[in-house]
Amino acid sequence: MIPSDVKATLSFSDGSPAMDLPIYKGTMGPDVLDIRKLYATTDKFTYDTGFLSTAACQSAITYIDGDKGELLYRGYPIEQLAVKCDYLETCYLLLNGELPNAAQKADFDNRVTQHTMVHEQMQFFLRGFRRDAHPMAVLTGLVGGMSAFYHDSIDINNPVHRHIAAIRLIAKMPTLVSMAYKYTVGQPYIYPHNDLSYAANFMRMMFATPTSEYKPNDVLVRAMDRIFILHADHEQNASTSTVRLCGSSGTNPFAAIAAGVACLWGPSHGGANEAALNMLEDIQRNGGVEKIGEFIAQVKDKNSHVKLMGFGHRVYKNYDPRAKLMRETCYEVLNELGLQNDPLFKLAMALEKIALEDDYFVSRKLYPNVDFYSGIVQRAIGIPVPLFTAIFALARTVGWIAQLNEMIADPEYKIGRPRQLYIGATRRDVPPLAQR
Ligand code: CMC
Repeated sequence: MIPSDVKATLSFSDGSPAMDLPIYKGTMGPDVLDIRKLYATTDKFTYDTGFLSTAACQSAITYIDGDKGELLYRGYPIEQLAVKCDYLETCYLLLNGELPNAAQKADFDNRVTQHTMVHEQMQFFLRGFRRDAHPMAVLTGLVGGMSAFYHDSIDINNPVHRHIAAIRLIAKMPTLVSMAYKYTVGQPYIYPHNDLSYAANFMRMMFATPTSEYKPNDVLVRAMDRIFILHADHEQNASTSTVRLCGSSGTNPFAAIAAGVACLWGPSHGGANEAALNMLEDIQRNGGVEKIGEFIAQVKDKNSHVKLMGFGHRVYKNYDPRAKLMRETCYEVLNELGLQNDPLFKLAMALEKIALEDDYFVSRKLYPNVDFYSGIVQRAIGIPVPLFTAIFALARTVGWIAQLNEMIADPEYKIGRPRQLYIGATRRDVPPLAQR
């Protein structure tokens, strides 16, 4: 952190002494006021529900400029990474800070590939779930369960353990997600195949059966890899902050990542891709493009509690750069599969056009986010809707680990412990049962 020449002074109207607050500069983005000594000096907390103005950490991993619609991983624009790199190179970048050279890439790919199998006992653990369990329920359990299987990588304070846990998590997530899927459809799970690329291996584990081999299609594999890259990290979002907070207690990496999976499940976060596709299917069932006007009117009616899923973002107040790339991928995939006239895609395009011209959305700076198109791409590839968020979790795992490892290595890191404005009853005595 670079100290700024500018100082802020906090003064009070009741005569309490004023306090100087240091200001720090990042390499980009807003400066921060250092309020760490505020409570000790003034006996006051700050109040910031939803962390609208609070930087809870310093980070060198991902940068978002929400007004410009810019997303950088370690300084590299997402638009360049999405076309020049594959997902595992992106993972290496997020974890290590630099892109790998050819030898480093080969070594990293090989390490991840060597860890794709999961402990055989995990399939018995999987069998404890109901067949109709949501894949995110299963994934939360399986990822948390990894801490019971890999005892040699659970010490979060040991950098070697953290490294092995990172490789294991990245390598095993595709296996776990496809196991969760196969379980719900009653098919035997398919072991990983280490001759295939990361994305192709995942697609094979999803779609092959013991009786029919899956032949990877380059366009679809590339689309899946791009979905992974676009979801790999997104700075201090809800699930990442959850992983950091959970990990700040010193818990093991698998437990911390399981907390991230659980948080991601929510429809305001990773669950939005599933919710966006369900919304499009609902509109389609109830009249399609003709009914967009009616649907938009419902969205604008605050009493309806209906949201245009896949629109709006806490940070982006411009078109989400990931949505632009995903829309491009959507065209490629639908063309490859001969689905150019896919009614849901047409509906999404019409909905987007109308929303982008409507004052409700324009004045609130609500633009499509990555989830608006990712559902259509995944559905076209053949991924069942309830699995969308699990794929997001698979892709985001590297971001969670990179952020967790960055926090643990930060000398300023402390256990996360927010404060509160207490508004409950003041002290009172417990009346005897007969008098209540
Ligand atoms: N549809 C209709 N109105 C909306 C929407 C939407 N999708 N998003 C925000 N608004 C309205 C909101 O009602 C509020 O209106 P008003 O000022 O009249 O009260 C205004 O826009 C500001 O919204 P907010 O709820 O204060 O914004 P937020 O930053 O707290 O919420 C959000 C961000 C992503 C939770 C929200 O936009 C949303 O629920 N979107 C739909 C779900 C979604 O697509 N989520 C995926 C996010 S991207 C994937 C990820 O990174 O997880």
